[in-house]
Amino acid sequence: MSETVSLRGKKRTHTCGELRAKNINDVVTLNGWVDGRRDLGGVIFIDLRDRYGKTQVVFAPQHNESVYQIAKQLRSEDVIAVVGKVEHRPEGTDNKSLLTGEIEVLGDDLVILNESETPPFPIEDVIDTSEDLRLKYRYLDLRRHQMQSNLLVRHRMAQAVRRYLDSLNFLEIETPFLMKSTPEGARDYLVPSRIHHGKFYALPQSPQTYKQILMVSGYDRYFQIVKCFRDEDLRADRQPEFTQIDIEMSFVLEEDIYPMAEGLVKALFKEVKGVDIETPLPRMSYQEAITRYGSDKPDLRFGLEIENVTEVLSGSQFKVFETGIQAGNLVCGINLKGQAGLSRKQVDELTDLAKSCGAAGLVYFKVTENSLDSATAKFFSPEQLKNLRARFAAQTGDLILLVTQPAQQIYGTLGQFRIEVARKFGLVDQNKNSLLWVTEFPLFEWAEDEHRFAAMHHPFTSPKEDDVAILDEGLAEHKKRKRWTSENPVGRTRARAYDLVWNGNEIAGGSIRIFQPGLQQKMFNCLGISEDEAQKKFGFLLEAFKYGAPPHGGIAFGFDRLVMLFTGSKSIRDVIAFPKTASAMSLMDEAPSEVSREQLMELHLKVI
Ligand code: AMO
Repeated sequence: MSETVSLRGKKRTHTCGELRAKNINDVVTLNGWVDGRRDLGGVIFIDLRDRYGKTQVVFAPQHNESVYQIAKQLRSEDVIAVVGKVEHRPEGTDNKSLLTGEIEVLGDDLVILNESETPPFPIEDVIDTSEDLRLKYRYLDLRRHQMQSNLLVRHRMAQAVRRYLDSLNFLEIETPFLMKSTPEGARDYLVPSRIHHGKFYALPQSPQTYKQILMVSGYDRYFQIVKCFRDEDLRADRQPEFTQIDIEMSFVLEEDIYPMAEGLVKALFKEVKGVDIETPLPRMSYQEAITRYGSDKPDLRFGLEIENVTEVLSGSQFKVFETGIQAGNLVCGINLKGQAGLSRKQVDELTDLAKSCGAAGLVYFKVTENSLDSATAKFFSPEQLKNLRARFAAQTGDLILLVTQPAQQIYGTLGQFRIEVARKFGLVDQNKNSLLWVTEFPLFEWAEDEHRFAAMHHPFTSPKEDDVAILDEGLAEHKKRKRWTSENPVGRTRARAYDLVWNGNEIAGGSIRIFQPGLQQKMFNCLGISEDEAQKKFGFLLEAFKYGAPPHGGIAFGFDRLVMLFTGSKSIRDVIAFPKTASAMSLMDEAPSEVSREQLMELHLKVI
């Protein structure tokens, strides 16, 4: 390959997706990648590709022998410049699936700008290649149309977000990436300071404290499309660095946050899907979401609602249930409509599924015209069976599935089981969108291993006005007992926190914040953070609150998750240009990597 090859005089006049019948007879120059070469009896066809599309280029010896000879050397992914005349494709050879399918370019000049080695996988939409290989050669993976289309949607969504929020007077303000470690529930990524020995910055888990301080400063409507960093266990919808649409507002109540966020979702649906979604979105309390759907992010595209039938079935001869109920367990289940005809083997499969969700077993009742058919039916009174049927509004042909477990576990088990069953039986209507707010989250959750309460959302979330007194009650109780127990009344406190859920995914979360230093301190006390510790960790925020902090609240959308759902991608990795693997590695550049002894010395660090 000559090193003097140059683009000079060969710059594209059109993109590879641009030429149409109206360009016929134009002499054009195209730049792009060779998508494939076909040698057809002395004529060479190539598809030339760039991110705008593909154009067919023809090289014929009778037209230009020397250019034809160069074209013979072309290989997939070579980068070329072609000059030629646009012609109509011969009668009957139009390609309707290509925007440029009516025309072709007759190659008159050809420069190979750069050769390509054989790529490790084909640059095609559907490929049977491991994700690891795609991530290692991410630059090739990103050439694929599917990936380019995902990133295009991502771009358009980001622009729509900016347009929408700008139109509502929000200011986009950047906040630091090197900050003081402030907990949001996950582990921090730490950055050692070279100048200050033994001190560390943390990468923000979110700009939470900064955006609250901006409210104190009077920037009453803030937003940022911002990277957040969390060192936590990864899943298909989680990345160690991910992007949020982060929003905060002053002088607001929940009632102001909801329509603002709904408007944003509406604008995105319009931009990407061209549909008008109906607002206001439905709301459901956390308590209701858990007891009816076994999840704080319920998917309402299908039924299978959970029923608690403990009372109905208590006092029976069925030992499994009765011993459980006596020990304080619940009996709950779902009605799988119209599936009474399942074979023994299929019911066994359902039992295995329930077990994989955490149940010890599964009890089933096939609903027949006059009774409930089951190996266990004989242990229940006719009255109990009648009531059971009524509770599930069961009809002939339905299949009632029950499990027993302690209250703390049973809803989680059934919540997962409900989703698996819906998937298995194809009950999820893919054309439906289930968007809803889940509200009134508990303020705290019990951290069993640490024997203390942790903030369910984050420590800056306000309790409901009616529940503030519970904090005092709980702190008094803690003082008396000199320790925290899971029964402490603070466990009952409800938060002014809300999540936005789309088809069973948490796409956004936020809260109305505490803005009074005294209440904030109480909150820290409930979290087992002493005054000293609070000063050390959050002194700046408590201090700022002393100078006229306005009432404020906000929300953050998981931007990658939104793009994943809008593009119908299976994983957020497919909508992030350079994502990490499940073990937080970047396979392309091999981060994280070792560093030199000198670098460590400079940072006063030693690897042990
Ligand atoms: P929260 O922690 O709920 O709230 O995060 C907001 C949204 O961010 C998305 N998200 C993630 N996406 C990808 N990978 C991750 N590891 C990840 N973690 C969270 C979710 C989630 O709904 N500061 C608060 C917001 C606020 O109170 O205003 C916060 O960060 O979609």
